[in-house]
Amino acid sequence: MEQVTINPLAEKSEIYSALLPQIQALTETEPDLIANLANICAALKQAFNWWWIGFYIVKNNQLVLGPFQGPVACTRIDSGKGVCGAAWQQKQTIIVPNVHLFPGHIACSAASNSEIVVPIIKNNMVVAVLDIDSEQFNSFDETDKLYLEMLVQTINF
Ligand code: SME
Repeated sequence: MEQVTINPLAEKSEIYSALLPQIQALTETEPDLIANLANICAALKQAFNWWWIGFYIVKNNQLVLGPFQGPVACTRIDSGKGVCGAAWQQKQTIIVPNVHLFPGHIACSAASNSEIVVPIIKNNMVVAVLDIDSEQFNSFDETDKLYLEMLVQTINF
């Protein structure tokens, strides 16, 4: 049976340390990208219960909505637009403590107050981004950046 086991009372870094090998085990034998992205979203949702967790995949020079957990979201984002488009354009992770202060933030949900977007880079090109939204302000920090960047590197695009 596929399952992810986490201790919700542990420190954030301990949760990530326990979660990443489980995600690796869950995805390494499955060649289908969409199946793996879907399970990664579910595992992150189970571990952290953030408001929205999902992937946008680069297709024809746009970010197009991929597997996610959470409410319905906008389906297409242009380069440079919103936090996702900025992370794509800049090829780097963006942490936004308060989305209402981020110029051009795309408010897919009024409930979102902070956000992290991690680009997934293959052969020096961004192929997708992992976007996570929280209902709390200041949810994401360097610990999330460190572990989420490690996580996306394990994805076999
Ligand atoms: N807030 C994102 C858009 C995607 S939704 O949050 C799911 C952005 O500004 O890029």
